[in-house]
Amino acid sequence: MFVRVAGVEDVRAGRGVRVYARGIAIGLYRVGERYYAMEDDCPHAGFPLSEGELSGTVITCAAHGFDYDVTSGFKPGYEDGFPIPCFPVRVEDAGIFVDVVLPDDDD
Ligand code: FES
Repeated sequence: MFVRVAGVEDVRAGRGVRVYARGIAIGLYRVGERYYAMEDDCPHAGFPLSEGELSGTVITCAAHGFDYDVTSGFKPGYEDGFPIPCFPVRVEDAGIFVDVVLPDDDD
């Protein structure tokens, strides 16, 4: 289910924005003309990743420096590990929509 979480004007290049969709904290990122959505709680100790520094497609956590690729959720160089959940993004009428599926959703 796609949920509108922000307007395109709310997400600036190089900066993350924390939004909420269906009770899940999500970091929104703009890289070039594309937008990405990744669960926002750092798996290390829960700090909001969207408050980190975005360089290219990699966000570096402001708390202890772990980094993650916002296009895949993987830590760079560890693509065989466990990624942070990422969500499909759609842009319509200057709005950013994120597809969040919960376990109780119907197919
Ligand atoms: S909370 Fe993100 S690196 Fe520690």
